[in-house]
Amino acid sequence: MGRADTTGHVRDEDVREEAADALDLFAELRAREFGYLDEGGHTYLDHTGAGLPPRSLVAASARRVTGGLFGNPHSDSPASRASGDLLDEARGAVLRHFNADPAEYAVIFTPNATGALRLVGEAYPLGRRSRLVMPLDNHNSVNGLREYARARGATVEYVPLRAPDLRIDEDRMRAALAVRARRPGLGPAPGRRGAAGRPRGLLAYPAQSNFTGVQHPLDWIATAQAHGYDVVLDAAAYVPTNRLDLGRHHPDFTVVSWYKVFGHPTGVGALIARRPALARLRRPWFSGGTIYAVSAQARWHVLADDEAAFEDGTVNFLAIPDVTAGLAWIERVGMDRVHDHVAALTGRLLAGLRTLRHSDGSPLVRVYGPDRTGTPRGGTVALNVLDAGGRVVDERVIIRDSAASGISLRTGCFCNPGAGEAAFGLPPRRLRRAARRRLGSLEEYLKLLHLPSAGAVRVSLGPASQPGDVETFLSFVRRTYRDRVPDVAGLAPRLGC
Ligand SMILES: Cc1ncc(COP(=O)(O)O)c(C=O)c1O
Repeated sequence: MGRADTTGHVRDEDVREEAADALDLFAELRAREFGYLDEGGHTYLDHTGAGLPPRSLVAASARRVTGGLFGNPHSDSPASRASGDLLDEARGAVLRHFNADPAEYAVIFTPNATGALRLVGEAYPLGRRSRLVMPLDNHNSVNGLREYARARGATVEYVPLRAPDLRIDEDRMRAALAVRARRPGLGPAPGRRGAAGRPRGLLAYPAQSNFTGVQHPLDWIATAQAHGYDVVLDAAAYVPTNRLDLGRHHPDFTVVSWYKVFGHPTGVGALIARRPALARLRRPWFSGGTIYAVSAQARWHVLADDEAAFEDGTVNFLAIPDVTAGLAWIERVGMDRVHDHVAALTGRLLAGLRTLRHSDGSPLVRVYGPDRTGTPRGGTVALNVLDAGGRVVDERVIIRDSAASGISLRTGCFCNPGAGEAAFGLPPRRLRRAARRRLGSLEEYLKLLHLPSAGAVRVSLGPASQPGDVETFLSFVRRTYRDRVPDVAGLAPRLGC
């Protein structure tokens, strides 16, 4: 940012010029690639839910698919080869994007990040003496790993978050990773992989929270590995606006969903796995595409010995080449520029939220997690609106009113119940008591927990966002809720979190 002069100082006018250039670049991008937002009168504030498809990417995809012949890649015909070559190219593009050495990492295409997590969960050799450690801040697609762990008798430990920023409690994380999973005397010393070279379990955590936007330290990867853990890094919310350098950090399993990065295609994610960790997985079945040799009558099969062993059936061979194009697109825009653009807009949003007050001076919003930039956080902001009496406004009111204003945002717990529980300060004992009751509905659950709403409001920004979107949201909140107690009559019952 800003060129340094001979004394090493960056001149203010250079910084201002760069910021103005960046604004121009993203304003031009908005008009050219995301024109459908303004043409349709939309304010899109759910980039953590899904990135938006650039027009040029979708047009180029259609040209590619209709300009050549692409067949099922499991063969050697010209049509098959054309698909196979593009799949190889996409694997190479993913590795280059993450600065990942092909000798160290394999790329497995999956339907989404969830599909990648499931591959790990169902095949990771957890057993009675191993552990699954997870911070409370995790998407349900990571939380779900605990069911595989539980079924195999492994210990599951959740690491709490610290208020007010809702970052991982570092002391508790260190303590959790230091626990010997085997009986005393049998566990490996820190820094060693254990007597048989087997890891003692998994640490699974997000590089960036999809609830608060907090970025958790990537240094946990090496710390956990030094204690004999394999690491699952959920990078789904991180990689859309951050560079992830797998030459520097070496998680054993990294999961992503590509539609979150460049909007198109949907239905394609990836598991980027370290080859030694991949070799530890034990697939519970085989399927078309995953085997090298098989006999029906002899009931015998040999799994493929590379990434093909994990790609069940026919992969999405028409869409996966769009990942190559999407990565080239984001590199042309510049991942660092996207990062800076989103950071600047997030700063603007947080500063604006701090100024929102009722006329008696009481706050109009409560932000969960870090409420300032300058700390490791991304462009996802969770909050609740407070009415004139200081009570949380029901999230169904917010979605009703924002929808009427053409604003697309998210409400609820965003599939991240742990971060929500920490944000709302719910004591574990009360949660356990509620879980023991046979509750008929989410409404009953909320009543038992004394919760005024079923979650928060999430606003998230991306490369298509402009300062005007932030202003639209701030003025929507001011106009609709300042000095008011909104009408909650006629709200539909909640169906789920
Ligand atoms: C942090 C995080 N992890 C995992 C997922 C799951 O992604 P998908 O639904 O694409 O599998 C999401 C989706 O929002 C997410 O934000």
